[in-house]
Amino acid sequence: MNARRVIIDTDPGLDDAIAILFALASPALSVAAITTVAGNIGLTRTTANAGRLLAATGHEAIPVAAGADRPLDGQGITEEAIHGEDGLGGVFLPEPVRAPAELPAHHLMAQLLDDHPGDCLDILALGPLTNVALLLAEFPAAARRLGRIIAMGGAVEVRGNVGPRSEFNIACDPEAAARVFASGLDVTLIPLDVTRKVRADAVYLERLRASGTTSGILAADLIAAYFAGEADRTSRPLHDPCVMLQAVRQDLFSIRRLRLDVDCSRNEDRGTLLSSASAAEIGVAMDVDASGALELLATTLAGTAET
Ligand code: BDR
Ligand code: CA
Repeated sequence: MNARRVIIDTDPGLDDAIAILFALASPALSVAAITTVAGNIGLTRTTANAGRLLAATGHEAIPVAAGADRPLDGQGITEEAIHGEDGLGGVFLPEPVRAPAELPAHHLMAQLLDDHPGDCLDILALGPLTNVALLLAEFPAAARRLGRIIAMGGAVEVRGNVGPRSEFNIACDPEAAARVFASGLDVTLIPLDVTRKVRADAVYLERLRASGTTSGILAADLIAAYFAGEADRTSRPLHDPCVMLQAVRQDLFSIRRLRLDVDCSRNEDRGTLLSSASAAEIGVAMDVDASGALELLATTLAGTAET
């Protein structure tokens, strides 16, 4: 099997961490770099968390590059209440083995695109789209060589999770998301409409733990921490892993082509997706085979996946 080369752009974050564990364990993906962005928590922590996940799984040779420490407009929001003060719910992970690259995230993205001009390279975006927007603005020729951009974000027909119709990643940096949507590149958005359907419950958590693999046990610990803040819930949505699952198994998702812009106003609708006839068309996942997605996630973390 030819593994897809990918850059993971991320703000780990509990569900980011599970997504990263999946990507590192998947034979269908080859992770060229992890780039970090401020989002769920500040940039220093998201960068350290990326390095800690690589150290825990023996992938310390994969470079990490720190990116934007704030959105394009300079004003950030964070989600410590969900992800804990360290961003990973206090789950034990070793310290990073390697220091982050000296290049900023979007420079490393451009370098990887320049170094292998003929090879396909995708960006799997799990946080605010600030780094990707900076790549488009500062290295447009390199950006045009990107394969797919698959990004978790937005709420199309469902309620938002930070505003009535706005979702965290897009609301964190609506200007960045608007630029990425308008880029004309091959963009697939994975909104709350599908990620809320892919849920881990206590039985699933125990299945991951029983796999006995480092990745399965860590994912179980991360999901347990995800429950800790919301003890009354019987299941939790696995938002960011859906990006990886879509990269590996497109048949699990129904994609609609939509022309979307982003509300960049300063009111409670900031970050809301707007249907606009003049906007560029992007792919938007509107439905998912949730049990198939959960099966692929569990078997990959257990090292028994068929793909
Ligand atoms: C998104 O926001 C973050 O809190 C999660 O990591 C995910 O990327 C869900 O709205
Ligand atoms: Ca995230």
